Amino acid sequence: MKAIILAAGKGTRLRPLTYTTAKHLLPVANKPIIFFVIDQIARAGIWDIGLVVSPENIDLIKAAVGDGSRWGVRITYIIQEQPKGLAHAVSVAKSFLGADKFLMFLGDNLIEGGVAPLVEKFERGAAAAMVLLKEVADPRQFGVAILDERGNLKQLIEKPKEPPTNLAVVGVYMFSHKVHDAIAKIKPSFRGELEITDAIQELLSAGEEVQAKVLEGWWLDTGKKDDILEANRVVLDEYATRAIHGEVSEDSKITGRVEVAKTAKVIRSVIRGPAVIGEGAVVEDCFIGPFTAVGPRSVLKNVIIEHSVLVENCILTDVGRVEDSLIGRNAKVTKVADGRDSLRLLIGDDSEVQV
Ligand code: TTP
Repeated sequence: MKAIILAAGKGTRLRPLTYTTAKHLLPVANKPIIFFVIDQIARAGIWDIGLVVSPENIDLIKAAVGDGSRWGVRITYIIQEQPKGLAHAVSVAKSFLGADKFLMFLGDNLIEGGVAPLVEKFERGAAAAMVLLKEVADPRQFGVAILDERGNLKQLIEKPKEPPTNLAVVGVYMFSHKVHDAIAKIKPSFRGELEITDAIQELLSAGEEVQAKVLEGWWLDTGKKDDILEANRVVLDEYATRAIHGEVSEDSKITGRVEVAKTAKVIRSVIRGPAVIGEGAVVEDCFIGPFTAVGPRSVLKNVIIEHSVLVENCILTDVGRVEDSLIGRNAKVTKVADGRDSLRLLIGDDSEVQV
């Protein structure tokens, strides 16, 4: 069994951050999202992983992920020249995959509890594919599944106006080699992409068995700012531990599950977990509230902040209260004490400021 991680795509909904990084490298609890994906694949016992990247992000992703030896896996980089759809990404990876069964994981999706038991079940069985599903409140923006009486997939409908069920298709799939023939038969959709849902529908039309598994735990799809904040909240809630390795002044107060990295400093501040403070960060005269990840080398002075992600090397000084914010690398938010009540901004294309 092999795996492919899909990390090409443009990430337009996360601009301007994705002008200079890939969304898969954005941190959740101070760890790049794609690292969680690789962890889960490695824990399922798969060591041969193809990482589908774009010509624009290959260097960035390679620099962060490397050859996979950190996880005990082997990573092969596969370039998809243009994001022409998930099924197109599979066709680009065809020579890497050969005739093997494979797990396909969207590089911006996280699921609770991992995939090990499902991978084992699929590997042993004879099904052509397995899809993971999750009950959602509003399925209209997803691929939606109808199951048969045995719990196998009967039909998939892409973004239905009137969803027949509330079972959304999650970005984790398993396939046998039969999917390659199915992909060869499908045509681009109205949005010009080769859709994986069409390939799965093609397998069903050919009479193949497509298994379905409804997830009990959480599923996070980190395509937009609020999704990253939600992922950060869920991951901190679940995995944060109390680990104070850095320097904490006596007049600071740290409550709950808070990680302060080795070279970080906390001075005259209150931190209420779950929260993480990255290496080399300085937090002075601040209140850091729950569900906040302060990235490495960030400097915060006289700030109240909660439910936010600071990517790396961010500077925040005297700005009052910050919440629900995603702040990119090297960004600076400061107050100028000159008595003028105006905003002075230098912000990149597609930035968003709410005051
Ligand atoms: P999307 O989130 O649908 O697309 P995107 O990453 O381009 O983002 P946006 O819509 O904000 O522009 O993609 C889901 C995942 O699949 C993501 O990890 C990128 C990956 N992907 C590919 O690898 N190749 C593709 O052709 C497409 C469409 C997506």
